[in-house]
Amino acid sequence: MTGIFTDQKLHKIIREQRANRSPGRSGGAPGLNCLILGGGGREYALAWRLARCDSVASIDVIPGNGGMRLFARTLDMNVREAGRLEQHIAASFIDLAIVGPDDLVADGFGDLLRRTSVATVAPAREAAKIEWSKTYAKELMREAGVPTARWESFRDADAARSALTSWEAPLVVKADGLAAGKGVAVCRTLDEARVTLGTPPWNTGALVFEEFMEGEEASLQALVDGETVVALPPARDHKRVGDGDTGPNTGGMGAVSPTGVLPDELAQSVADALIAPIARVLAAHGTPYRGVIFAVLIRTRSGFRVLEYNARFGDPEAEVTLPRLGGDFAKLMVALGEGRLAEYVREHPVRFSQRAFVDVVVCAEGYPGTPKMGTPITGLDQLPDGVYAFHGATRAVAGGGFATAGGRVVHVVGGGASVAEARDHAYAGAERVVFEGRFYRSDIAAGEVVVV
Ligand code: GLY
Repeated sequence: MTGIFTDQKLHKIIREQRANRSPGRSGGAPGLNCLILGGGGREYALAWRLARCDSVASIDVIPGNGGMRLFARTLDMNVREAGRLEQHIAASFIDLAIVGPDDLVADGFGDLLRRTSVATVAPAREAAKIEWSKTYAKELMREAGVPTARWESFRDADAARSALTSWEAPLVVKADGLAAGKGVAVCRTLDEARVTLGTPPWNTGALVFEEFMEGEEASLQALVDGETVVALPPARDHKRVGDGDTGPNTGGMGAVSPTGVLPDELAQSVADALIAPIARVLAAHGTPYRGVIFAVLIRTRSGFRVLEYNARFGDPEAEVTLPRLGGDFAKLMVALGEGRLAEYVREHPVRFSQRAFVDVVVCAEGYPGTPKMGTPITGLDQLPDGVYAFHGATRAVAGGGFATAGGRVVHVVGGGASVAEARDHAYAGAERVVFEGRFYRSDIAAGEVVVV
């Protein structure tokens, strides 16, 4: 955030307000005022989970979306105007800030918010490099001894093209930087890899070749505060746009938690093996991590390997894991944001409920390309019991109701005593959310359901 003006006097005011209010420092403090940056399904799930905490007094979301206006205050302001953001934090007595999207994390909003002394759930920009540079993440994995695929990095597509002959297909080609979930290409032949290297985003900057690994993927999010690592419920995402894992990659078409690929009871030991070593190396480098590390794992015949790290909650992983978290989520987030995670979880261990959740993402025509926007949505008020509509990209329309405002329009989240029940609920809900051109995958979580 170099060059962005931040106000020292305002910081002092916020610090004093916080000293008088923080439950970490004063018993019997009034309720928490929470701020979430972002406006998709993940941020809806964060706000929804905070709204279920007795400790929370208010929830602000910048910019939020149409659906969040039903239960939170959404602010129509440019989050990148740092001065205005700080003024809002002071004026609204914000205690806790959570940064959702990868680009805001990569742009240093964790640093900016922490400077105001608000409890901040987001890593520093330098620590977030585990997501915004795939090469850096691979170097850290090597240093930390974390198992991953064989890899080689290149400054640009020309350099990568020259090295192609020393690689075998299938081959994974990854853009080094952020690419909205669309920077990974699995190339079945070297010719396909050559074509990929001439296509955005792979022809626009540094990139990485990676050996293709056979196996099943799982998502493991963990709260990380320095060297303290606390696993959240594991989940499974469905990245490709089409049934049977076909078509281009997306941000995620649906998710399920729990998952047989990484059962709940292994979550902490896998986090200890595959996330904690990275946290220790980051701390040793002088860039300690404070926020969420979300590891994308693959279960191979020789055990779990790391495909990549993300420096935030997953989307749609948050939608199916946050409903499973017991306890006061807001207090847990404040403890993480204030650097008291180890102390807090000693007294309040993080527990996962036994309930299952499945998210089916109802998308707009055109996604993952340019989605059709402004289409009226019906059926959101007719969802069956046990089903939630976590809005991803909606806007409220004059006179009531909602219209599409992006690609992943509504995450229909079903809960149940089993994955099968949760899945039935999610699909019963998805059927009722109707708008012109809408589509969704029909096989979300199908592999997790035992057929009898
Ligand atoms: N679900 C993948 C991601 O959040 O990047």
